[in-house]
This record gives sequence, C-alpha cells and structure tokens, in this order.
Amino acid sequence: MQISTRLQMEKDKVTFFQTYNRLPILIDKAEGNLIWDKDGSCYHDFLAGIAVNALGYSHPRILDAIEKQSHRYLHVSNYFYQDAQLNFAVKLKEISGYDRVFLANSGTEANEGAIKLCRKWGFEHNKTEIIAFSGGFHGRTYGVLSLMDKPKYKENMGPWLDNMTIIPFNDSKELEKTISEKTAGVILEFIQGEGGINEVSSEFIETLNKLKEQYNFLIIADEVQAGAGRTGKFFGFQHQDVTPDIVTMAKGVGGGLPLGAILAKEYLSPIWSKGTHGTTYGGNALACATGLVVLEELENGLMEKVHKNGIYFKERLNELQKLFPDQILEVRGRGFMLGLLLNFEASNLVQDMLKNCNVITNATSGNVLRIVPPLIIDLEEIDLFVESLKSCLSKQK
Ligand SMILES: Cc1ncc(COP(=O)(O)O)c(C=O)c1O
Repeated sequence: MQISTRLQMEKDKVTFFQTYNRLPILIDKAEGNLIWDKDGSCYHDFLAGIAVNALGYSHPRILDAIEKQSHRYLHVSNYFYQDAQLNFAVKLKEISGYDRVFLANSGTEANEGAIKLCRKWGFEHNKTEIIAFSGGFHGRTYGVLSLMDKPKYKENMGPWLDNMTIIPFNDSKELEKTISEKTAGVILEFIQGEGGINEVSSEFIETLNKLKEQYNFLIIADEVQAGAGRTGKFFGFQHQDVTPDIVTMAKGVGGGLPLGAILAKEYLSPIWSKGTHGTTYGGNALACATGLVVLEELENGLMEKVHKNGIYFKERLNELQKLFPDQILEVRGRGFMLGLLLNFEASNLVQDMLKNCNVITNATSGNVLRIVPPLIIDLEEIDLFVESLKSCLSKQK
C-alpha cells in the first residue's frame, strides 16, 4: 500500500464517527463491475454498493441521463410538476402494477412513510399494531428500528415506538397467535437481506393470506434490497402467491443515486391528503432520470438475464457446497441475491477473497457470505467468483 493511501485511511479514521467497518481499499474509479483502487489494483465487485448499482458503474446510459438532466436542472422541489419524476413514476407503475407512487430518498425513508400510511389507514379502521419479524432489516430511523430486533442496532437508544410487535420469521403459529383485530399491518422482506438471505416459506404466506382475509390488515413488502429485478423478478414477493398493499423500494432502483419509492394500491390513495407526508429531496430529478434508465434496462432483457444467470450462479454454488460441505452449510437466495451459510465467520472469507483474489464480497448476519453483484455481470464473472471462492476455501481446508 502506498504511503499516501495509508495516510488517507488514517485521516478517515480520525475524521468520521467510526460506525463503519471499511474494507482496506481507497477507491479511485469504477466501470462495469470492476473497481480500481488508488494503488492501481483492480477488483471484481460482487457487492454493488450494497445491492445498489444495478447497472454496474459508469453505465453509458446512466452517464448520459445524468449529463442531460444536469444541464436542465438538479433540484427544484416537490412544489413543481417535473417530467423527470413523472416519466420515472409512470414507468414504475407500469412495471410494478401498483397505482400510486410516493418518491423518497432512501430505504429507511420509504419504510417510515409506509408505516405512516399504514398507521393512518389503521386509525380509520381502529387498528394500531404493526407486526414485523426477527432478523428483518428496514433501516436505521426510529420508526423502523422499533420493528427490528437485532440488539447491535438498538442498544441504549430507546425508548421505541409502541404497538410494534416483532415475532419469529416464518413461524405461522406465532403469526396466528399475534394477529388480531388490532393489527393494522405486517411488514416484511420476502427474502431477508441483512438477516442472512432467508426466504419466506409458502406455508407462512398461506397463513398470512388467510389471516388477512379474517382480520383485514395491510401487508407491507419491504423490497428495498430484493426489488428492482435483483431476484430475477421485479419484486422478491412475486416468487410467492401474495399481493402486498404497500411496497417500498430504494437501492437498485436509483442506479447509484439516492432514490426510494412507496407504492400502493388505489384504495390507499385517499389516506394521504395534501400535506400529510412530504420530503424536500425525494424524487430528485437526477435520481429519477437514472432510475428511469434502470427500469428500461430491466424491461429490455436485463431482468430475464438475472433470472437465467442467477440459476446458473446458484447451480455453481451448489456444486461448490458439495465440494466443501463442512465449510458451506447451505446455499440460499435467488437471482443475484445469494448467500452462503458458512460454519465460520463470513468476514474471514471476505478478507481472504479480497486479498487473495481481488473479489469484493460481503458478510452479513455473522456467518453468511452475501453475494449481491451488479445485475449486469455475465457467466464469465460468475465463474471467476466461484473459482476464487474455491481457491480460498481450499486453503482453509
Ligand atoms: C430490506 C431493507 N430495507 C431497508 C433498508 C434501508 O435502506 P437505506 O439504507 O437506503 O435507508 C435496507 C438497507 O440495507 C434493506 O436492506
């Protein structure tokens, strides 16, 4: 490592709150799914800015959209009609099948809005409780933290919101015991990301649908990580027989710029009248311009490609699991939202993959290696990842 790189890293450490575990790379530039550091090393990216960069880096259509929109205007606020917002939202409605859109900046903001919408609907129906699930991740703001149970995110920062109940994920019996006339909504990731790439079971969905019939509550799908084509369908929940009332998105849908969205069915539209919810930056024109490119690319074959390549990727990982059954306990996920349950700390493997193979990956939930590459990667990149993993695991044996 060059001295200048080391110095910058040291400066970083005394400048910022030390809330992040950074990988020891000082980024210079990125293109496609490759990242170069200031020391000239090149890395293969299987993290995509934490499931964000759907089209990779420096995608020509993204750059073009930024160029064009930035010459028109960057931000004018939601006091104005804007075609950049409208074009994005109309396309989002078309692809998603939802009727109403609220634009935000991030996943946590989209989820906060969804909770507010749900609570306000609940107020009209005399229902206040929102139910969430253990291992779920919905963001870092107070409302959603009240719906999460991981101690690290919450310790000594309470008190938390009332009428928020967290129950075990995929536990139908517990769901039956907990849902009542008081339930306004249930929020869940149909494939948990930070929680370790855990899929909801069809049996659990069946119970959820049955209880919804019985008690009339809203289902909120947190599609911040799984949405925008990452699992090979536009939404992660589309792998199941379920129709959420509210869907939240962020991450991939902005193509690298901060963009979030709340989608809802028409019957929820009157719940929010003028002034009941808002944001200064949400629906920023530049982010909407790049978001539109993401949606168009997904529609024009990218989502199909993720579906096909995702099957190949999982097959190759399953082969690897058979070779290393003591180290890899399970292969999880769909499309390009994959995880390996390991019998050791995944962060060790992340470091090995980085140092020995120049492959960027991620550890979540302690012993899960999370694989969320840009959606544009091809079979060669998948093979490279699998071979790198193989060589790291062989050295550990
Ligand atoms: C499922 C899910 N919801 C919400 C969030 C929060 O999104 P943001 O970090 O954009 O606030 C995340 C972030 O990882 C997420 O994975």
